[in-house]
Parts: sequence; structure tokens; C-alpha cells
Amino acid sequence: MTHSLKMISSALLISASWMLMVPAAHAVDEEAARALAKQNNCLKCHAIEKDKDGPAYKKVAEKYKGKATAEAHLIEHITSGEKAKFPDGHEEEHKIVKTSPPKDMAQIKNLVQWILAQ
Ligand code: HEC
Repeated sequence: MTHSLKMISSALLISASWMLMVPAAHAVDEEAARALAKQNNCLKCHAIEKDKDGPAYKKVAEKYKGKATAEAHLIEHITSGEKAKFPDGHEEEHKIVKTSPPKDMAQIKNLVQWILAQ
């Protein structure tokens, strides 16, 4: 009895720590994402909750919720300099994200995943 209880509790412990580990492996590095957004002045035109010149990141996350191509699309958006429409109607090329080292996909992906998680 004691023995099987021990077995069960250690099995539970293992699965509990496994459950904790799995999301951690895919978790967004929020600090890094915020730092990169700050360095790039993204937050001059965007906020999490409120629209500024650019849409609130919460709204962006909402818009792309459940869309399989969201990540690829937003990576394209912040790396290609595609036209962005401002609230006053004028258009200019959207800011291209700068990383160090340049074009570091892991950092760019992390930033996009953070936006999509708002
Ligand atoms: C000079 C202002 C400005 C800066 C700086 C800026 N953005 Fe934007 N951003 C905009 C505007 C305006 C739009 C709306 C574009 C549109 O709807 O055509 C936009 C749209 C977006 C979107 C939504 C795209 C979509 O398909 O819905 C994302 C995501 C985004 N920006 C991320 C970023 C990131 C990340 C940075 C920093 C690297 C950044 N922006 C810097 C103005 C800016």
C-alpha cells in the first residue's frame, strides 16, 4: 500500500513537472520582446491596450486569433517595409524591425508571438 502510494505520488509529481515544462519550452520571452519593441520605437506608434497611430497589440492579436498564417504574415509586415495606413489617411512604409545581430529570426519571431499573445 505504502509502496503503491509512493509510486502514484511520484508519477503525479513527474507529470506535474512535465506539464510545467512544456509551455515553458514554447513560452514567449516577454522581457526580450518588450526590449526589442522599445529599441525599435514600436511603442511610439503602438500600445498594448490603446490605439495610437498604429493599432493596439490587443486588437492585432484579436484580429489574427486562430489564423494559421498570422505569425508569417506579421513577420512579413515588420520586415518588408510594406505600406501602412495611418489614421489621418496618409500612407508610409511601415517600420522594419532591427535586431542585433541583423535579421535575427528568433528575436523577430519572439516579438511577433508576444504581440499575438496580447
Ligand atoms: C511610425 C509609426 C509606427 C511605428 C514606429 C511602428 N508601427 Fe506598426 N503600425 C503602424 C500603423 C499606422 C499600422 C497600421 C497599418 C495598416 O493598417 O495599414 C501598423 C500596424 C502594425 C501591425 C498590424 C499589422 C496587421 O497586419 O494588422 C503590427 C503587428 C505592427 N504594426 C507591429 C509593429 C512593430 C513590431 C513595430 C516596431 C518594430 C512597429 N509596428 C512600429 C505604425 C507604426
